[in-house]
This record gives sequence, structure tokens and C-alpha cells, in this order.
Amino acid sequence: MLKALVVGFVLGILAVVAGVYFYFSTGRAPVAANGPEMPFEHRMAHMALDAYLAKQPHPEPQVPADEKNLLAGAEVYKQNCAVCHGVPGSESTSIAAGMSPKPPQLFHGVGVTDDEPWESYWIVENGVHMTGMPSFHGTLNETQIWQVVMLVKNADKVPATVRGVLTGITATPTPSGPAAGTPASK
Ligand code: HEC
Repeated sequence: MLKALVVGFVLGILAVVAGVYFYFSTGRAPVAANGPEMPFEHRMAHMALDAYLAKQPHPEPQVPADEKNLLAGAEVYKQNCAVCHGVPGSESTSIAAGMSPKPPQLFHGVGVTDDEPWESYWIVENGVHMTGMPSFHGTLNETQIWQVVMLVKNADKVPATVRGVLTGITATPTPSGPAAGTPASK
């Protein structure tokens, strides 16, 4: 009786493994970026990412979200992120529109303003496997990553000067204080 149960259990597992193998090996899984997702792909990927992130350290932001850092973050963003994540007041680029999964437009809707900065820091530093989100480890330094993270965290309330850097439309210079659009010091 127990033996039959064990044999049945093992056969059941083998059938599932064979089914999954058959699905992939006979070209039934969707592979085109403009086609449908694989069944459960999105849910499984996000479950894995959320569970993994929960185990990571949760450091506090290492730079304040002041104008100087937001301006520096905007320069980093324009060069490294805008092509996928968009800028205020513009449609997705054709690159972003053709990607699967689609990069969230970080200046439209809530973006990542409701996420913890450490979470976004981890994603920018390490990237997300099989999504097109690159790892910037070694190409951006820690300060630059925190600066761009503070920018996207505060995407819904950036000053006009920062918006100007992102959109390429210079804000009216303020009569007192540093001129708007002054390039961020490195
Ligand atoms: C080549 C395209 C591409 C570039 C360039 C890129 N990203 Fe991404 N990014 C993505 C994609 C695609 C995702 C969605 C990943 C997913 O579905 O899990 C993503 C996800 C993210 C997320 C998580 C969003 C969320 O809702 O949880 C953050 C934060 C982020 N990117 C920030 C950045 C920053 C900052 C830069 C620049 C330093 C950058 N990305 C550059 C494609 C890109």
C-alpha cells in the first residue's frame, strides 16, 4: 500500500517534469518580446524578487534629497535611465515601448515614489535578471546611485530646475542664488 503510494507520487512528479520539458523543448513557450508572457512569469518573477529583497540589508539613504543631489541625480538619470524609464511630460521611447517586461515610467503615476530607497538602490546596483534592467555596479559609484535613487523616490515633487535638466527645457533662472540649470558638480 505504502509502496504503491510512493510509486504514484514519483510518477506524478516525473509527469510534471516531463510536461514542463515538453512545453519548452517543442517550442510552445512564448519567446517574442511582442508576444504574450509565459504563464505565471510575471507573478513568479515578482514573488522571487520581493522575497530576495526582503533578505537584503536595508541601508538608510547616504545622501539627502536636496537640490544639489537631485540635480546630480538628474544628470545620471538622463544619461543612464531616461531611454527606458522616461522623462516628465513625454511618451515612452520606442525602446521602452518595445521591451518585455516594460520598464515602468518613473515620472508618470506613482513610479517608485512609494518604494523604500534601499529597494531601488539594490535594483539599480544589481539589476533584475531577464528583464532588461541593467546592473550599474562598477559603472556608477555609490553616491551617484543614491543621487539617482533620491531623484526617482521624489519624482512627483522635483524642483523646476531638476525638471529642466530632465526635459532639456531650462527653467526661468531665479534672480537670487545660483543660476538654474547650473551643471551639477561632480
Ligand atoms: C535598458 C532599459 C533600462 C535601463 C537603461 C534602466 N532600467 Fe530600470 N528597469 C528596467 C526594466 C525593464 C524594469 C522592470 C523590471 C521588472 O519587471 O522587475 C526596471 C526596473 C527598475 C526599478 C524598479 C521599479 C519598480 O516598480 O519596482 C527601478 C527603481 C529602476 N529600474 C531604476 C532605474 C534607474 C535609476 C536607472 C538608471 C541608472 C535604470 N533603471 C536604467 C529597464 C531599464
